[in-house]
Amino acid sequence: MKINKLFPVIVPEFTYEEDLEEIKESLRSERREQFNFPEGVETTCGNLHKNERFHSLVEWFEECLEEYKVTFALQCDRLDISLMWGNIAPAGSGVGHPRHRHNMSLVSGVFYLTGGVATVFHDPVYPRTMDCMEVISDNLAVRGGPIEKIAAEEGKLILFPSWLVHESDRHFFDYDRMTISFNAFPAGNINPGPFDYPMANIEVL
Ligand SMILES: [Fe+2]
Repeated sequence: MKINKLFPVIVPEFTYEEDLEEIKESLRSERREQFNFPEGVETTCGNLHKNERFHSLVEWFEECLEEYKVTFALQCDRLDISLMWGNIAPAGSGVGHPRHRHNMSLVSGVFYLTGGVATVFHDPVYPRTMDCMEVISDNLAVRGGPIEKIAAEEGKLILFPSWLVHESDRHFFDYDRMTISFNAFPAGNINPGPFDYPMANIEVL
């Protein structure tokens, strides 16, 4: 039997091989506050991509975004980071990110500076599970949804479409869970039309 998987959501994964201690110290030294009430994850300002202390990491993110653009043959000159911020779920705090998506963005990334609880993605076609004739399968891989989890592992970067709803589990580990997130915009000439004139030309400031 041949199996066709229709409408998959693409979530590529990359691994950063360099040491992360300096990056962690840089994140710890950034001003952070709680913006996701009633949850208590601490978040920085969204300008870390312009901060010299994160420069080497930003360059690597840009390489990953270029590979993503080329792999999926996207009709844009670049994918530029438009927002980048750090998050800390303190040790034993029991806080997590509430369910959300990233608006004003095409592709988003989560980079794990530490292990900790997973990122939880929600099935974008959840209503299919409301079928009243559903016969439940013992095979979880076939059943699918309503969530999929990606483990937090130090040095791992995942990219996902920004519309994909996600959250993080509540963090009860005995160490801080640290991540850096970013949003990316298509930039330069986008979707060339007749006479190669692009449908948009965007510069991310
Ligand atoms: Fe997010």
